[in-house]
Amino acid sequence: MRQIPLLDLKLEYEYMKEDIDSAIKTCLEHQKWIFGPEVKELEDKIAEYIGVKHCIGISSGTEALVLSLRSLAIKLKGQEFFDKTDEIITTPFTFTATGDAILRAGARPVFVDIDPVTYNIDPNKIREYLSSHASRVIAILPVHLYGQSCNMDDIMEIAKEYNLFVLEDVAQAFGGMWKGRKLGSVGIAGAFSFFPSKNLGGFGDGGMVSTDDEEIEGFVRMLLKHGGKDKYNVDHIGYNARLDTLQAAIVLAKFKYIDEFNERRSKIAEIYNIEFEGIDGLSVPASMKNLHHVYHQYTVRLNNGKRDELQTFLREHGIASMVYYPVPLHQMKVFDGRCKIFDNLKQSEQTVKEVLSLPIEPLMEEEDLMTVVKTVRKFFSN
Ligand SMILES: Cc1ncc(COP(=O)(O)O)c(C=O)c1O
Repeated sequence: MRQIPLLDLKLEYEYMKEDIDSAIKTCLEHQKWIFGPEVKELEDKIAEYIGVKHCIGISSGTEALVLSLRSLAIKLKGQEFFDKTDEIITTPFTFTATGDAILRAGARPVFVDIDPVTYNIDPNKIREYLSSHASRVIAILPVHLYGQSCNMDDIMEIAKEYNLFVLEDVAQAFGGMWKGRKLGSVGIAGAFSFFPSKNLGGFGDGGMVSTDDEEIEGFVRMLLKHGGKDKYNVDHIGYNARLDTLQAAIVLAKFKYIDEFNERRSKIAEIYNIEFEGIDGLSVPASMKNLHHVYHQYTVRLNNGKRDELQTFLREHGIASMVYYPVPLHQMKVFDGRCKIFDNLKQSEQTVKEVLSLPIEPLMEEEDLMTVVKTVRKFFSN
């Protein structure tokens, strides 16, 4: 039986082979593995693309989050880490790294519920929390989940009103926009991931911080190389969190294709949306006005309790699918006693039981796409 994967990185490599092979060959020839020229070139190109003054290459998206938060602690409090009483508001419906980064920066994550339509953090819930707990909150960490922007107008307005900082988790939304502005340029900083399966992914781990803020840029650059301007005389508790030259070269080669690939993702999503219209019990992703969704995932929702059955049915027909994410962060042991839960997180708890991400390989054959469509339809007609 023909297998249809969620993503086909081999196919993508074949498509870009000449560019990637030549980028790797250049690295083999120059042998500048640490802070090679490709790192700076990638930083400059992405800064221009996103529309920020600075981009800083980092070893992963997770470290990009941690270093941004640590830089904020140094900038705001003159401290290496936040205090446990410092709160950062975020969503429980995300990858672990979002909440974990808050803990690693010394602060306490406050989980507020999501909007059940977009799956992103609900600005009304942020506002409700702040109306009674504002004094301890330092920042908001919105996650542009599945490639769809959060409501950044509301989030930035709230941040302004309460004097808070906004750090965007853009790991899943490279190239996505909010009202004509690229994500990662709206808050004080953005954290990107070049994990291989991301819209712009390398051949291993990698990440980036984007910011207009000179101080954040300076601190991130110090923290990523052991904590000092001078490697042999350091100021801060740092990390070895540089972006590899080789990863930078590969990401740079793939960057040429990012708009084309995001466009291909949108077209696939459009076809799914049309083909799935009217199926009782299945909701397609909501597409909010004024934004450019980059469909890192194409995620449907089943409100009939049959999500797992659909996943099994697809598997039996050779079609891969994934649940992103099966457990909300507040239910994980690592956050037990270390986070705050605002009100209830019912929408998140319900959503984890109902979502399913379908294949969205930008280069997928139309025949495979239609096989997914027909199989989903068959499941619902049974
Ligand atoms: C929302 C989100 N935040 C953070 C990360 C962490 O990125 P990385 O895997 O590059 O460390 C990821 C992806 O893995 C993610 O999806």
